[in-house]
Amino acid sequence: MNNILVTGAAGQIGSELTLALRARFGDSNVIATGHKTRPSDILMDSGPFHFIDCDDIGTVADIVKKYIIGTIYHLAAILSAVAEANPQLAWDVNINGLYNVLEVAREFNCSVFTPSSIGAFGPGTPLENTPQDTVQRPNTMYGVTKVSGELLCDYYFKRFRVDTRGVRYPGIISNATLPGGGTTDYAVEIYYEAIRNKYYTSYIDAGTFMDMMYMPDAIKAAIDIMEADPAKLIHRNAFNVTAMSFDPEVIAGSIREIIPEFTINYKVDPVRQAIADSWPNSMDDSAAREEWGWKPEFNLKMMSRDMLEVLSDKLLDQE
Ligand SMILES: NC(=O)c1ccc[n+]([C@@H]2O[C@H](COP(=O)([O-])OP(=O)(O)OC[C@H]3O[C@@H](n4cnc5c(N)ncnc54)[C@H](O)[C@@H]3O)[C@@H](O)[C@H]2O)c1
Repeated sequence: MNNILVTGAAGQIGSELTLALRARFGDSNVIATGHKTRPSDILMDSGPFHFIDCDDIGTVADIVKKYIIGTIYHLAAILSAVAEANPQLAWDVNINGLYNVLEVAREFNCSVFTPSSIGAFGPGTPLENTPQDTVQRPNTMYGVTKVSGELLCDYYFKRFRVDTRGVRYPGIISNATLPGGGTTDYAVEIYYEAIRNKYYTSYIDAGTFMDMMYMPDAIKAAIDIMEADPAKLIHRNAFNVTAMSFDPEVIAGSIREIIPEFTINYKVDPVRQAIADSWPNSMDDSAAREEWGWKPEFNLKMMSRDMLEVLSDKLLDQE
């Protein structure tokens, strides 16, 4: 088996996906790479780690050559809220960085997993039960880069037969690494604040529904699609995948089942609220279910129980 490269390995998804891949395929066979973010000790100690810059194609090609890489999980990116603050950087990393990874994959015959996002949708997209194939006219730089990335990955498969695959992730909720500046980060922060202060001030308004997923399911989706039978894949890239849909009131209600005194209030951030308003309320992920057997394991109740349990222990340890 050829080795696996993870870009963006110090990020929210990469930090956990790398460890899951190492557990499955062997520590020394999974090469973690970061940019500036300091990786956790466990990431550094459990296998190879290097700093690269996806905008510098030579740094990507060097690692692919050195470690005889067969599969690249390309997670390096600039997320939605940060992308709105610095659109030029978002274009550089999300488009030029992806282009470099695809070019290296073409030259060295690697498969590539690239996550797209619910951010690839926008005004004009049906918000309820958002279809797999539908209007995609996002009005954020993050969305523009994500749609372009979906198309670029499709192009590299059709034109050069690079084995590109990917999913459109919803908001990802995790208890290990903090999220990197997305619009759905509130759904992580709320658990920390519920434990620390028993209240949370949400920057996303009540009534704003978005798709979400617990990290173990996000990791499962990434690994499952790369192991799927290619003959069955009609949509190779950008599969809608979701596990649950809620607004701040619904997630607050599920926390209250465990912490009854928990309260929520609102101080809406107009930038992130506008982004959230342009995203689906709930996606139809039947194409992923039919083509590669996608099925999430965690619903909101199970996730809230697990998040509060794990974070309580973690915050206690830090005291
Ligand atoms: N987390 C979510 O809720 C979510 C939802 C939908 C899609 N996604 C997608 O999943 C992927 C991973 O997201 P994440 O939440 O782990 O992001 P993150 O922001 O936590 O991590 C991204 C990592 O990319 C690295 N990076 C930035 N510029 C780089 C460069 N030039 N070269 C190399 N690395 C660079 C950063 O250091 C960072 O650690 C992204 O493509 C993102 O768009 C995430």
